[in-house]
Parts: sequence; C-alpha cells; structure tokens
Amino acid sequence: MMIIGGPSSQLLAGRVAGLMGEDLALCDYRHFPDGEAYTQILSDLDEEVAVIQSTPTDRDIIYLLQLLDICKDSRVSLVIPYFGYARQDKIFQPGEPLTARAVAQALNPFLEAGRVFTVNIHAPSVLDHFSSPARNLDATLLLADKIRDLDLRDPVIISPDKGAVRMARSAAEHLGAEYDYLEKTRHSGSEVSMAPKEIQVNGRDLVICDDMIATGETMATAIALLRRQGARRVYLAAVHPVLTGSAILKLYRSGVEAILATDTLDRGVSTISVAPLIAETLRS
Ligand code: R5P
Repeated sequence: MMIIGGPSSQLLAGRVAGLMGEDLALCDYRHFPDGEAYTQILSDLDEEVAVIQSTPTDRDIIYLLQLLDICKDSRVSLVIPYFGYARQDKIFQPGEPLTARAVAQALNPFLEAGRVFTVNIHAPSVLDHFSSPARNLDATLLLADKIRDLDLRDPVIISPDKGAVRMARSAAEHLGAEYDYLEKTRHSGSEVSMAPKEIQVNGRDLVICDDMIATGETMATAIALLRRQGARRVYLAAVHPVLTGSAILKLYRSGVEAILATDTLDRGVSTISVAPLIAETLRS
C-alpha cells in the first residue's frame, strides 16, 4: 500500500508510512496566482493507496478532491484525521445547507471501492453520508496515556460540555480518576458562557478534555471558571488543535499549565501522534 500525505497531513502521513514500512508518495502542492490549488503525485501509484489529509480549510478539501481524482484507478483508503465542517452536521436554521453531508457527498464518487476513516469526528452521524464503509477512530486513550505522565495531584478529568463527557469518562476510567462536566451555553460563534457543576476542584489538578480547540473560547472560559473555584493546575487535552487566531494567547492568559494535543493537525502543541492508531487500522 502506498501512503499519500495531503498538504495538511504530511508529518502524520510520514509517521504512518514509517510505522507500516510502506512507501510514502512524493507529491507537489502549490497554488496558481489566482489562488487555485495545484496537486501532482510524482511517484507511481500502487493498486492500493491510503490518502491521509485533514481538512481544516476549504483549500484542503480541494487538495483532497485533486488527490482522489489522481487515485481514481487505485483502491483507496481515505483517512481524514480532522474532518472540517463536522460541526455543521445539522440544518440549524431554515435556508442553511447541511455542509458536512455536502462534503461527504463530494468525496463519495471517488470511493466506490474504498473505505473512510476519521479520528474523533465531531459528529459521528456525518459518517452516514458516506456511501462506502466509514469508521471513526478514537484517540482518547492516546491522550490519557500522556495525561498519566503528568504526575497529577488528585486529578479530575473534566468535559467543558455534555458533548465530550464520553471522552472525559473514557480517559478518567483509563487513569482511575474522577470525571465531571461543565454546563456550557454558546451565544455565538466565538462567545460561550459556563455554569459550574457540582465538582469539588479546590486544590486539585484538572485536565479539561474536548474533541477540539478552535477559537479557544470554550477552554479559556472553563479554565477561568475552574481556577476561580480553586483548581491547582489546569491542563488541556484535545484531539484536534485547530487553534484559530489568538487561541493560544487566550489559553495562556487564562492560566493553562500546558496543552496536550494530537497530530491530526500539525501544530506546535501536537505532541501525541495518532499514527499508531491509523497504521494499525490500515494494516487490518
Ligand atoms: C463543540 O461542541 C466542540 O466540542 C468544542 O467544544 C468547540 O468546537 C470548541 O470551539 P472553540 O474553541 O471555538 O470554543
């Protein structure tokens, strides 16, 4: 199987190819002066290929379509470690598109004999829009293993909202720690408020777990709230470090101790690799 790393997943693709002992294709990614994306795969393709490309931006979706078009004669395993638009998984207001479905359906024609994998996709229901077998991989325990190395005092694993409780519970059970969640209300794309739950955090070390950190607003609000309640050290653990704009500054201004995240997106905080998870899945 040849591994093809899209422009937003080059490091991860390299790691996966290394773990699997498979060839990593040489690709060229550029864009024309008018902004249109240009892709070329310079290696000869195998009958079976794994395309690995996260889609944090619209252009990344175009690069992915271009890669799949080049691979149309191969059997494709498509890995989208971070699936952008997964938060647009419903029609919230009349006149809106179901964008996650539109993206999946744009990819479907290239995947007739293929399969799809995502990692901690925000809404697993999005996978139903793929016409080929689609599976979501869970990186929570990779995060939990890293949390174990932090040597925390009387830790609590906290979800900033009900949506990530399963993740917090699974990490907590792995670590033998307690878990809880905060009640979150989102007022707009970047404005979030939280009400405390019945958790005793005074003097304890906390890890707030979520699938992603985007603007950082959710996490910054949670950190400030928990520190006001007397938390000792507050760490963040997220699968996808989207980290738009000044998210990192916001988080450090709120008093975060450290940010743990995976390489589904290649950022400075991506110290945990999901490559073993992907390599094992592709092998099977
Ligand atoms: C929302 O339900 C997600 O799980 C995250 O909590 C959210 O998307 C994070 O976004 P932000 O960092 O912009 O608050």
